[in-house]
Amino acid sequence: MRVAVAGGTGAVGRHVVELLGAAGHAAVVLTRSTGHDLSAQDAATAGVTEGAAASGAPRGLTVVLAGCAAVIDVSSIATTSAATSTAFFGAVTRNLLAAERAAGVPHHVALSIVGAAAAPSAYYAGKKVQEDLVMAEPVGWSILRATQFHEFAVQIAEQGRMGPLQLVPTMRSQPVAAVEVAEALVEIALGDPRGLDRDLGGPREENMAEMVRRYLAATGQKRPVLQVPLPGAWGRALRDGTLLTARGARLGRQTFAEWLAAL
Ligand SMILES: NC(=O)c1ccc[n+]([C@@H]2O[C@H](COP(=O)([O-])OP(=O)(O)OC[C@H]3O[C@@H](n4cnc5c(N)ncnc54)[C@H](OP(=O)(O)O)[C@@H]3O)[C@@H](O)[C@H]2O)c1
Repeated sequence: MRVAVAGGTGAVGRHVVELLGAAGHAAVVLTRSTGHDLSAQDAATAGVTEGAAASGAPRGLTVVLAGCAAVIDVSSIATTSAATSTAFFGAVTRNLLAAERAAGVPHHVALSIVGAAAAPSAYYAGKKVQEDLVMAEPVGWSILRATQFHEFAVQIAEQGRMGPLQLVPTMRSQPVAAVEVAEALVEIALGDPRGLDRDLGGPREENMAEMVRRYLAATGQKRPVLQVPLPGAWGRALRDGTLLTARGARLGRQTFAEWLAAL
């Protein structure tokens, strides 16, 4: 099968592309590095004319998606601005869905985050827009909500470094291996559309400050870790389990300790 992967070079996207290839499928990688700015206004139609294609100009999504059985969207933007996040996920999702409709792609698979529709964060505002657009789509779609990847602890460590100190928000997390999320996405994309699928989380709950402490120790970094409860509704969501899977979710296999040991 031919499957397009929006964000196919990212933390989870690169596993999706590898898994598709290993199973004998053709992965079409859509990222800015492969010439597709999915948030650009004309991404769906740019270069669709025969002349543009012949001239080697970047081809529109509609042309590239022809013959695809599914599109897996694992694109992302690093931002703490709700406006930037909603603009990005809104534009990418609208462009992909428009091009899929025009090209006759029967299945759109989006990766979202457990708690994205409930927890008020700037980044999650964009994920909520993405989910709403996909759910309103008459053509086949699947949404998988996953918990944070193990790598999230590294991002928190980088963002929270303050002089000799390491600040970490008080946060309950259920980290999952990115490759296991990729496995689930590929399985979904190769089957019939599922709508909102069962959530996917890691095998056990962890405390983020403890995860960061263990990551720093495993990588030879010595900084005292200070756990800070964030104020407001977002801080509460981090602490009250909103970002954990509910009963009935599917659970990944690799623990955070196993991921650390493999670094
Ligand atoms: N990280 C987590 O803990 C986590 C947990 C659950 C769900 N998720 C979701 O998983 C998805 C993937 O996250 P990730 O952490 O794997 O992302 P990532 O590592 O930041 O990768 C982002 C990907 O998007 C591409 N991209 C960025 N801007 C683009 C644009 N304008 N046009 C086309 N492609 C663009 C990037 O390639 P270029 O830069 O070359 O364009 C890259 O391939 C996101 O939707 C995220 O919300 C993440």
